[in-house]
Amino acid sequence: MLNLGILISGRGSNMEAILKAIKRKKIPINPAIVISNKSDARGLKIAQKLGVKTEVIESKGFKGNRWEYDQKIIAILKKNGVTPKNGLVCLAGFMRIVSPEFVKKYKNKIINIHPALLPAFPGLDAQKQAVEYGSKYSGVTVHFVDSGVDTGPIILQKVVKVENNDTEETLAKRILLKEHQAYPEAVQLFAEGKIKISGRKTKIS
Ligand code: GAR
Repeated sequence: MLNLGILISGRGSNMEAILKAIKRKKIPINPAIVISNKSDARGLKIAQKLGVKTEVIESKGFKGNRWEYDQKIIAILKKNGVTPKNGLVCLAGFMRIVSPEFVKKYKNKIINIHPALLPAFPGLDAQKQAVEYGSKYSGVTVHFVDSGVDTGPIILQKVVKVENNDTEETLAKRILLKEHQAYPEAVQLFAEGKIKISGRKTKIS
């Protein structure tokens, strides 16, 4: 069976949705390890409660460069069976840019969730960007990670209507509900081998 590694930085609600869906829907993937770059990430406790192993590699004050940091992540992933051949890495609110070397080693094996309809509003504060721009619709994108920021092949998207009186917070809340559906769905598609990638396009069978 495939092994799953989830990288988090904070709240961990997407991680929780994925872990619960794996159990409930019997998705054929083993949740092997959750890694946080912050020791106080709330998601660590949630993972432990759900019986999933956790590790922390503190990024604050880390002396090396990005690739040196990522090598520490890779070592833990591998130790837990999350290899490029037999693994999937989910970035779930992991607020760090991963190095091109990591992306290359785990080509098309790292996926990310972003709270907007990419390519609109990449980067930070996507929900705020959508409200301030005056978008009528925003949503969520799950995509493979390439060496750009939020630019990899899209696996799936879900649309959320932006209401006239929406604030960043109210929109983020409704987008998050869709995130919790979208990410488990994408993990399931991957685990069942249903995603084919050609160039920057994916085909779901
Ligand atoms: C989520 O809204 C996720 O889409 C976003 O961070 C939040 C993490 O929440 N990620 C990004 O903005 C990445 N660019 P969570 O820790 O509760 O899953």
